[in-house]
Amino acid sequence: MCGIVGILGSKPVANDLVEALRRLEYRGYDSAGIATVQAGQLARRRAEGKLTNLANRLSDEPLGGLSGIGHTRWATHGKPTEDNAHPHMNDHVSVVHNGIIENFGELRDELIEAGHTFQSETDTETIVHLVTHYMNTGLQPEEAVKAALGRLKGAFALGIIFANHDDLMIAARQGSPLAIGHGDGEMYLGSDAIALAPFTTALTYLGEGDWAAITRNETRIYNREGERVERPKVTSVASALTIDKGNHRHFMHKEIHEQPEVISHTLTNYIDMANHQVDFPELGLDLAAIDRVTLSACGTAYYAGLVAKYWIERYARLPVQIDVASEMRYREAPLPANGLAVFISQSGETADTLATLRYCRDQGQTIASIVNVRTSTIARESDAILPTLAGPEIGVASTKAFTCQLAALACLTLALARARNTISKEEEREIIAALTEVPRHIATMLRSEPHYTDIAYELSKAKDVLYLGRGINFPLAMEGALKLKEISYIHAEGYAAGELKHGPIALIDEKMPVVVVAPKDALFEKTISNMQEVAARGGQMILISDASPDEAGCPLMQHIQTPQAHPFVMPLIQAVPVQLLAYHTAVQMGTDVDQPRNLAKSVTVE
Ligand code: F6R
Repeated sequence: MCGIVGILGSKPVANDLVEALRRLEYRGYDSAGIATVQAGQLARRRAEGKLTNLANRLSDEPLGGLSGIGHTRWATHGKPTEDNAHPHMNDHVSVVHNGIIENFGELRDELIEAGHTFQSETDTETIVHLVTHYMNTGLQPEEAVKAALGRLKGAFALGIIFANHDDLMIAARQGSPLAIGHGDGEMYLGSDAIALAPFTTALTYLGEGDWAAITRNETRIYNREGERVERPKVTSVASALTIDKGNHRHFMHKEIHEQPEVISHTLTNYIDMANHQVDFPELGLDLAAIDRVTLSACGTAYYAGLVAKYWIERYARLPVQIDVASEMRYREAPLPANGLAVFISQSGETADTLATLRYCRDQGQTIASIVNVRTSTIARESDAILPTLAGPEIGVASTKAFTCQLAALACLTLALARARNTISKEEEREIIAALTEVPRHIATMLRSEPHYTDIAYELSKAKDVLYLGRGINFPLAMEGALKLKEISYIHAEGYAAGELKHGPIALIDEKMPVVVVAPKDALFEKTISNMQEVAARGGQMILISDASPDEAGCPLMQHIQTPQAHPFVMPLIQAVPVQLLAYHTAVQMGTDVDQPRNLAKSVTVE
């Protein structure tokens, strides 16, 4: 959702800015650009599309300068053209921005009235002119930015540089994450620790509403009220190693294949293997005192939460409410005392999830978060963190983060159930044994990957695909549909199998593939009945199940055999075939699997 970077260096910064942007490209890839202070003047290079276009532009037209800012864009206001690419600038000020300025329309009108000329359709350019406007009244850069910040409504992380000020960079944060990096005689700014990892691991995260004036020797941070504040310096654990695809064609493929290992790491973090029980030593929560659980997240992480609703209600006998964060944040839901609110997020920066977290905190809930990035804002604002140990996820479509979220949520379920005495020791042992077998089962399934190429060929011819599941498999059906549509651009919907007859069955004909996620659990027979209804209307079915094709009792276009396992762990196992189906279909279609159109990995705007 736009990545920003800034460097006050001791050598020319253009290459390092591009290197940092490469590590931020997951946040957006509609366009990229950098600006530097070169012999006192502001200069920039921008290019539409992926970062390689900017790198090519820079090799044709290099840019000097020891200080600069850079940006990789996920378009919000204005098309992804070069004119709308950041940095935005005039002769005096250059700005990179992540977020949305909600009142940009009225500010723009006011500035045009005052004689400013705009060159782009973006909300960001308003900031350039607003700061310039205050500088024109005689204010120094810092005061001008302070005055401009007071006029901005919305969410932003900003990096700002000025002509004739080679040793000054201003950073501001409201709603969007931003870290200052401390180097040796150099200073950095970045949307996350990963971007800055090649340069420094010493970071200061700006607090909500903070802004900072950064020079090579001194950083002054101010809060929203304008008071000088100190923010702690922390050591980041982000790796400076280049994140590469190894022998895989795509990051998504690599990440699907990493699942046995990373699920294993995540489970090991929560399971006391010697005593066959979950163990949350550092949580500090009184799980027995909880009366109700609220879950919220977005997209794939929401589907992980939906699986957990089934687990927590069934095993811990606790009522669970769940909603997508973009809805929940505005619902004004009443939340009871003794409630635990759990937020699930790979990035830990998703704007809607963060806003819902803050709502729940204001309602007196205890806040736990399941995050993959431990230094993220969601992690920092939680009472307890349950990390997933998935490692960096680069492919925009979430795969290993999802199954690691399921692993952490499975352990949370068992911890709640034990604290509330709703599970016997034997049953906990049995489920833990089943969980520890999951990595082996997934590794087995990954060995039959060639089978997916044929099925993907069939799916790639479809215009629409239905995914069906019942009970705890319903979220998997929705996750399968989301994966397919986001990377292959084929329209797909996930339905509760029992809902089919209430409308969607009208869509069924011989051209509509129906993917059925149906392990042989207590609801299997019911799903079989729904499959008969599809078969009777000529629907072409792909069954993902540990049951044999014969047990389906109706004609199948394809069958994907999964290993047999305890029903509790089936969502983790069923996740892999739906990922592989989407992946191989996208490969057949020739889409950009890791960076599908219109998407970004980290959604820091609402
Ligand atoms: C889909 C996908 C998205 C994310 C969603 C939440 O494959 O990756 O739906 O799950 O944007 O992101 P996080 O988990 O970072 O909060």
